[in-house]
Amino acid sequence: MTDSKVTDWATDFDHTDPAWVQDPYPIWDDLRSRCPVAHTDRYGGAWLPVTHRGVAAVAYDTEHFTSRSVVVSNVKPGPEDLPAPIGLAPPITSDPPFHSLARRLLLPAFSPRAIAALEPMTRDLCRELLDATGGRSEIDAAVDYAQHIPLKVIVGMLGFPQEDADIFRRFIHMVLESVDMPAEARIEQVERGEIVDYLEEQIADHQAHPRDDLTSFLIAAELDGTRLAPEMVRGTVLLLMIAGIDTTWSAIGSALWHLGLHPGDRKRLSAEPELLPSAVEEFLRAYAPVTMARMVAQDFELEGRSLREGDWLLLPFPSANRDPSVFPEPDRVILDRADNRHAAFGLGIHRCLGSNLARMELRVALGEWLARYPDFEVSDPSAVTWSAGQVRGPRSIPVRIAS
Ligand code: HEM
Repeated sequence: MTDSKVTDWATDFDHTDPAWVQDPYPIWDDLRSRCPVAHTDRYGGAWLPVTHRGVAAVAYDTEHFTSRSVVVSNVKPGPEDLPAPIGLAPPITSDPPFHSLARRLLLPAFSPRAIAALEPMTRDLCRELLDATGGRSEIDAAVDYAQHIPLKVIVGMLGFPQEDADIFRRFIHMVLESVDMPAEARIEQVERGEIVDYLEEQIADHQAHPRDDLTSFLIAAELDGTRLAPEMVRGTVLLLMIAGIDTTWSAIGSALWHLGLHPGDRKRLSAEPELLPSAVEEFLRAYAPVTMARMVAQDFELEGRSLREGDWLLLPFPSANRDPSVFPEPDRVILDRADNRHAAFGLGIHRCLGSNLARMELRVALGEWLARYPDFEVSDPSAVTWSAGQVRGPRSIPVRIAS
């Protein structure tokens, strides 16, 4: 049993509560059946639609909802608190019309062709990580494997030092998991402190020594004939670091956790690797890691609830993916599920720009793991731990490898 502090999820939800962190699906099921838009006074007031229809209505509506801040915390920025029109981490924190400019800039780096070119090195990386586990019968599938893959790939794309992996992990924790700290301390940590210092140091190094990577590309890039503002370069790099790492690490981890608990699916996927692309989509649907947030830009009626300008709203794409009115048998993982138009990568103009990269990393990571370890199981399900906040994934998955 978890030590939950919430008595009614419809009127007092908390996405950092231990019960939500441990297993949010029963909470969303319950809310879907009796209160499709929940509310909490926590974090200065926030809403939570849980149906696919409610989540989609908000995600497609950029007039009534702003992406000014996409992580619910005790810091509620007003438009004047952020560099306009860029936001803190473009394009994810940008609204139209600037959003499309910031997004277009990044598209070539994440095109199917650009990502296909990264596949051989991603495969080598997975094999090296598996080599390093060789001979042990107990492995942590999250700590020894999943967490390293997206981190090393994005650090390589940005041209940052690979040995800074631990620093990156700490920054991600600071941005995504420390959301319930007091406002002033959070602003200091996320917008002024060592994260900014680190990024500025890396950017200055790239300015002095340009090379063939994404950071140098952003420094040299132009919008309407003008170089990008320094806060735009820094914000974009910050976004790629945050968006590209623990999202995919969580998705790889959840898939391995599932396979380690469901021998039927594990055996089938090991025997039929051609199922990997559809299995990846199904893992993304069933264990979608990312819940986004919006702020209400103009008062709005959502499914009978009156939302007020300045309120937070959580967008739980993982709950939309378990809506039985859209996905038959939503709680069952069906490796070859037909018609799987899931919302794990979001809906609307902010739809994930890194989806080609994430899919490639998932397919390669799972394929290489199963080729090396076709027979494994989660050794102690109660020892599995999950991240708190808006990106959900296992942070420790002890597994036993069959000899
Ligand atoms: C399984 C892994 C991933 C999942 C589930 C995921 C999910 C999402 C979601 C739900 C959004 C929509 C945000 C919104 O509506 O506000 C998004 C946006 C975004 N993602 Fe991902 N993501 C993943 C991996 C990646 C990777 C590897 C990258 C690249 C480094 C990336 C870069 C981005 C960017 C740049 C955006 C902002 C797009 C925009 O605002 O136009 N993501 N992602």
